[in-house]
Amino acid sequence: MGSLGEKILVVDDNAEFIDFIRRFLESKDFQVSIALNGKTAIEKTSSDIPALVLLDLKLPDMPGEDVLKSIKEVDKDIAIIVITGFGGEQVAVDMMRKGATDFLSKPIDHQVLLSSIKNALEIRDAQIEDGRFDRYPSLEKFFPFLAHEIRNPLHAISGALAIIQRRSDLKDELLSQSIKIISEEVNHLNEFVQECLNFVRPPNMVRIAAVEINEVISVVMNIISHMFEVESKKIRIVTDMNPNLPKIYVNYEEIKQALLNIVKNAFEAMPEGGQFTIRTRHKSDSPKCIEITFIDNGIGIKKENLGKLSNPFFTTKLRGTGLGLAICHRIINERHGGRIYIESEENKGTTIKVELPIGRPLGEISGVK
Ligand SMILES: Nc1ncnc2c1ncn2[C@@H]1O[C@H](COP(=O)(O)OP(=O)(O)OP(=O)(O)O)[C@@H](O)[C@H]1O
Ligand SMILES: [Mg+2]
Repeated sequence: MGSLGEKILVVDDNAEFIDFIRRFLESKDFQVSIALNGKTAIEKTSSDIPALVLLDLKLPDMPGEDVLKSIKEVDKDIAIIVITGFGGEQVAVDMMRKGATDFLSKPIDHQVLLSSIKNALEIRDAQIEDGRFDRYPSLEKFFPFLAHEIRNPLHAISGALAIIQRRSDLKDELLSQSIKIISEEVNHLNEFVQECLNFVRPPNMVRIAAVEINEVISVVMNIISHMFEVESKKIRIVTDMNPNLPKIYVNYEEIKQALLNIVKNAFEAMPEGGQFTIRTRHKSDSPKCIEITFIDNGIGIKKENLGKLSNPFFTTKLRGTGLGLAICHRIINERHGGRIYIESEENKGTTIKVELPIGRPLGEISGVK
């Protein structure tokens, strides 16, 4: 399971109970430490932060509630499961309001305990993941609001437009052109709103799976050939794929999205055509990484812009949102522990290297479950 080796602190003054819990949790590969009173619990939490605390409410030296509060002050992400004796449920519910994830009543069943722990650790991982969005707290709140406010009128406009289209004389060139413009602009706004939402929360429909990167790339190239039907004809595509790459453990949809953004930029950089090369390799100096290289000989990037590419909304395009590479950075660096390197020279072309780690057990990359 993903939580293999996680640290659990058991706080209880009953030696027999502790022994029972410790043996069970160690058999499930958790690292267990013990505190027989509240003071020790707080000290142990501060010196070696556990992932989860099993906290008995009745301790000899202080109220369980105070212990809970102090533990949360050390690190608010520590998961706490409250253990109560018979009839302590009301207090336990109160504790959940104060930050405990779950409560269990003695006597405790092994399986109930295990599933409660797993659940609490999952919630904790999700909370840590959410915390990553703190860097963009205002955008996180603003985009869903914006999406809502824009999408509703857009739906109404599309509906009304469809009626106008049906009732109009489309032989009137000017009228049909105007309808086309409205329709395209509505689509553009819809896509913009979607990209804003993807930015605050990249698509997460499909979770971690063993993925062959060469396959993802061929899916991406297929999508691109539909997106750039005309330009594709003027772009020579060279592929140099290592057929023996190991599978990587990634979120398929997210990686597809990230690579698509990169290839889309490359195609947009070659409006007059050119050559686009994709290469996949085991990274030479680190066999634990695969490396995907995208090379275009398009318009290139001005030196002064190189440092800004991953900033949300940085764009040099009339119709760009400037979110493409910001999303790539979030997916590859933040969510998959990978890296992106960009080299470019104006009027010569751009090379983008993506490194993704292989062989990471599930759950090791924080935020990826
Ligand atoms: N292959 C490339 N060649 C030239 N310029 C590039 C390339 N890739 C990225 N850029 C530059 O980086 C900027 C930011 O790219 P990004 O994908 O984040 O946004 P965008 O392409 O402008 O908009 P969107 O992706 O939302 O359509 C681009 O506007 C462009 O100036
Ligand atoms: Mg882009």
